[in-house]
Amino acid sequence: MATKEYQCVKIEKGEGIGWLILNRPEKRNAMSPQLHLDMADAMEELATDPEVQVMVVTGAGKSFCAGQDIQLTFRGRETASPADTRKHRAASKAWRWDKLDTFPKPTIAMVNGFCFGGAFTPLCACDYALAADEAIFGLSEVNWGILPGGIVSWNVVQVMNYRNAIYYATTGDTFDGKKAVELGVANFHYPLAQLRDETIKLAKKLMEKSPAAVRYTKEAIRAVRFMNEPQAEDYLNAKSDALKHVDKENGRQEGMRQFLDEKSYRPGLGHFKRKKKEA
Ligand code: COA
Repeated sequence: MATKEYQCVKIEKGEGIGWLILNRPEKRNAMSPQLHLDMADAMEELATDPEVQVMVVTGAGKSFCAGQDIQLTFRGRETASPADTRKHRAASKAWRWDKLDTFPKPTIAMVNGFCFGGAFTPLCACDYALAADEAIFGLSEVNWGILPGGIVSWNVVQVMNYRNAIYYATTGDTFDGKKAVELGVANFHYPLAQLRDETIKLAKKLMEKSPAAVRYTKEAIRAVRFMNEPQAEDYLNAKSDALKHVDKENGRQEGMRQFLDEKSYRPGLGHFKRKKKEA
């Protein structure tokens, strides 16, 4: 599938990975209205691109994303038309949360540098986050007299505990990749020089699994966060039944056959041998 070109976003593809790159390095990838529009469109492209099995969100240059563009998004809104403001706000929310939260393939945030303020929403929306040791994270809103708005405060209390969320949001203290893992903001941290290779390794690990099982599992984990126990049980039973019908590889039957009949693998220690790689 042809790769579209954008003003503020770059797409690269290879080895089953779609790299969705915030591309305003001279502004540390601060999110302008145009970047929001570009990201919303680019994400739709990658969602249905058959060459892409895993999507990685990252930033060009030495920054992941310096948050909302304070000039173009915040000051700009003071003079923008209501119609433009509405369009840009919708795109900002759409790609940073709605589209990522429901993305049909695994998503990895590769935090290669600065990650501030509004960047926490796409960071938390991705299924996984890998951080460079050298990355600098911060809920910097308090440093210029605002609060972590949009849905940033809500995102942060889901990955950090309550005490840490209040601490980092009210002090604006920065933290590095190692601390991001301790706080639950990232899964793993690596020296920047290894970050891309480690991201590719994780993407490949995910590509070995049944795409339908991975998709339904991540959807289930996301959904049960907001349910009580009886709701979760009912939902998970229905979701499991649905998986049987959508899984074109019929993984459940094949997995049982290879373990119980063929005795060719152990589910506790690895994945069954897949016949085809596409869902
Ligand atoms: N909004 C608008 N412009 C931004 C920006 C943002 N969030 N982040 C960086 N930029 C711009 C700078 O104004 C500068 O523009 P200029 O070259 O036209 O002067 C350019 O990007 C480079 O930034 P600079 O501050 O010189 O780079 P740095 O590497 O020394 O520092 C940061 C990087 C990210 C630490 C610093 O730019 C910063 O604190 N940005 C704001 C981060 C923030 O609080 N974001 C949350 C917003 S809610």
